[in-house]
Amino acid sequence: MNRKDEHMSLAKAFHKKNENDFDQLRFVHHSFAEIAMDEVDIAADFLGFSFKQPFYINAMTGGSERAKTINQQLGVIARETGVMIATGSVNAALKDPALADTYQIMRHENPNGVILANIGAGLSLEDAKRAVDLFHADGLQIHVNLAQELVMPEGDRDFTGWLDNIEAIVSQLEVPVIVKEVGNGMSSETIEQLVWRGVKAVDVSGQGGTSFTQIENARRPHRELGFLTDWGQSTVLSLLEASNWQRDITVLASGGVRQSFDIVKALSLGAKSVGVAGTILNELMSNGVEATIELIQQWEAELKMLYTLLGKKNTPELLTTDLVFSSEISHWCESRGIAYQPFAKRNRQ
Ligand SMILES: Cc1cc2nc3c(=O)[nH]c(=O)nc-3n(C[C@H](O)[C@H](O)[C@H](O)COP(=O)(O)O)c2cc1C
Repeated sequence: MNRKDEHMSLAKAFHKKNENDFDQLRFVHHSFAEIAMDEVDIAADFLGFSFKQPFYINAMTGGSERAKTINQQLGVIARETGVMIATGSVNAALKDPALADTYQIMRHENPNGVILANIGAGLSLEDAKRAVDLFHADGLQIHVNLAQELVMPEGDRDFTGWLDNIEAIVSQLEVPVIVKEVGNGMSSETIEQLVWRGVKAVDVSGQGGTSFTQIENARRPHRELGFLTDWGQSTVLSLLEASNWQRDITVLASGGVRQSFDIVKALSLGAKSVGVAGTILNELMSNGVEATIELIQQWEAELKMLYTLLGKKNTPELLTTDLVFSSEISHWCESRGIAYQPFAKRNRQ
């Protein structure tokens, strides 16, 4: 089977609404919101874009006939809901132009929407330009997937030059660039390296949802690397790791988002918007396009309710919610020198 088709099947097979680190933080409830739900605006503004909802559909697929069908359906979903969306890695189409239409179909269905192209960090500035030109992408995601490549039987084994490639692309490309993980999260040190290379936006894409080490291990004949299934920092930990860099870089979050409540938590930890991959793919493959559109609309309605419950009129105001972490999260923060206590008393400052 084609690798991208295998990824979709395995992502769906492994998809579970498991507990993850989003369950390790709680909001402090305050009884007086003193706002009306009608006043609440869940819009998100970042990188010069404006969206009516603070979440987006993250990079998934392309490069096969089955992937083309999924991208066509995702294009319809994005058009009908106005969400930002990314295609899966276009590396395959840059090597084999016959595959271009498996990505272009998303633009065909969603001519006026914001669509991001996606490439690996091993690619050059020239490749990045070709990726954007493929379907007039509004932005580019560059994925960093060290753990996935190492577990992938046919994956890369040379990881030199990634930072130089990224620097060349962000300094020359004319559309916004987001450097993203693929479900292993980012550390403060990683983000610092990217800031120094001129990167303006990251998607920390943390552990807790789709696990590409698990997926790639299932493709190995002996499945001997199962111990790497949970490798990396969760999305919650990654956002805490990113907290010192919020002034220097736009932080987006993804990884393990199961429901609207997870989105509000990620936004309260400083994400400007929140990406969802596995949960959307699972809904689409299980229940179809209409049900996925309805799920997105349901999340929008729930977010409005949750902002009201928290007494916040808009997305930036979520940064004044009060958050308390479990001992596991506080232990990580103590070990890493991250100030987590201020999150518990932001409302009245
Ligand atoms: C089937 C599938 C294919 C994916 N392919 C890509 C890809 O080509 N490029 C990329 O940057 N991320 C890819 N991802 C990773 C997602 O964009 C996201 O970072 C990760 O799945 C964590 O989010 P989740 O827990 O919501 O799935 C893929 C995810 C899935 C489920």
